[in-house]
Amino acid sequence: MTHLLRATALIRLCTFICLLLPTAHAQDTLVRGPYLQKATPTSMTFRWRTGTASAGVVRYGSSTGKLTRTSTESESRTDHEVTLTGLTPNTKYYYSIGTASATLQGSDQHYFYTFPKEGTAKKTRIWSLGDFGNHSARQFNVKNAFKNYVQSIGDPYIDLWLWLGDNAYNRGLDKEYQANVFSADTGYSGDRFMKQTPIFATPGNHDYAGNNNLRVSLAIPYYQVISHPTNAEAGGVPSGSESFYSFTYGNIHFVSLDSDRYDDSTFKAANLRFGEASPQIAWLKRDLAAAQTNPNITWIVAYWHHPPYTKGTHDSDTEKQLRDVRMNLLPVLEQYNVDLVMCGHSHVYERSGLLKGHYGDAASFDARVHTNSPAPAGNSSKNVSNFVKNRKASVNEGTIYVVNGDGGAGGGHVTTGTAQWPHNAMDVSFDGTGGSMYIEIDGSKLVAKMITGDGTIRDEFTIRKESK
Ligand SMILES: [Fe+2]
Repeated sequence: MTHLLRATALIRLCTFICLLLPTAHAQDTLVRGPYLQKATPTSMTFRWRTGTASAGVVRYGSSTGKLTRTSTESESRTDHEVTLTGLTPNTKYYYSIGTASATLQGSDQHYFYTFPKEGTAKKTRIWSLGDFGNHSARQFNVKNAFKNYVQSIGDPYIDLWLWLGDNAYNRGLDKEYQANVFSADTGYSGDRFMKQTPIFATPGNHDYAGNNNLRVSLAIPYYQVISHPTNAEAGGVPSGSESFYSFTYGNIHFVSLDSDRYDDSTFKAANLRFGEASPQIAWLKRDLAAAQTNPNITWIVAYWHHPPYTKGTHDSDTEKQLRDVRMNLLPVLEQYNVDLVMCGHSHVYERSGLLKGHYGDAASFDARVHTNSPAPAGNSSKNVSNFVKNRKASVNEGTIYVVNGDGGAGGGHVTTGTAQWPHNAMDVSFDGTGGSMYIEIDGSKLVAKMITGDGTIRDEFTIRKESK
């Protein structure tokens, strides 16, 4: 009898304690993320989604056992966005995400580094890929090949992750981002990179749902999924739009452009991108002029979706959108001596030497006129190229153009017409197992490697900045 009374009392006590416990334990499920956005030397933004509405909390500190600081949302929601401010530059922080009463995710894998102060040269590791979110074997292979490569060099922290557009097939819908980008299988939520590395994206035509009517507005899921700088939060000139933006990491200035959206209805009616009076071009000129004259900046890297030179799954000779990019945008970029341009859209890998002044079709390319670099190595299994530029050139010394739109989407190339694959202006052209890029910038040296879906380094190039 005594045992029965004790058991009953115990059950009542347990029931009472359970009633006191917040429901978050039982109900909250992590649907998406966490993923990192809008990084700066002193702040970091966290995004994640939960199954039920709650006020999100980020706990952070110098080690997993010392998450002593918190930042809490002011209202309950399912799509969470929390920005930590007042952080110390170039510093490692651990974090967890959750609610006031529960931790949804946090481990020794959940950490990030704040950006270094502008002008502080730090060895910077970048992962770049395009046209990836299609839940394919290629997407899975490319991701794992990159992961294996990083492990082979000691598994260092990756500082920046660039998405080159067509991030979620087929129409950039929220559910496609969920299934093809944030999933833990073919997508990226199961890997440490999404937990640790801030993502900087650019939109592609599939993110605009292939819908011409959407291409003058920001009313697409992409702008709900991503949070990008609009006010030069990490350097550069404020763009006032998440459609295009810039930021500075140490001594590297990054510029992201929107090559799919028309600036306004007038440009849309004229089917013209990057035209003379384009607000995006006006901002770009101001931003690049400031970067070029900024003594803290050694490198300028630009990225957008539509490539100026390609003979892969798209043809830059015949597609007006690509011709507009080449003829209207490139003269501006080259005026400011941009070092590296990375695009997607064509589901192949193509890479030029130091090009300058080539705004015509492939047939008009003349290496003696349009390049500022030696002939390619010509090794068919792996190209290794070395380029040298002036540290601060007053004249255009050429730009390396990369097409890397094979992060998941299938390949193909132009096999008809007078100018076929490979494009005359490209030193390296690869249509194979897909791939992504590992880029390391250390002071005045940039090394970029294209890592294929089967784990080989298909292309490697180096740019050195010298004070001549
Ligand atoms: Fe595309």
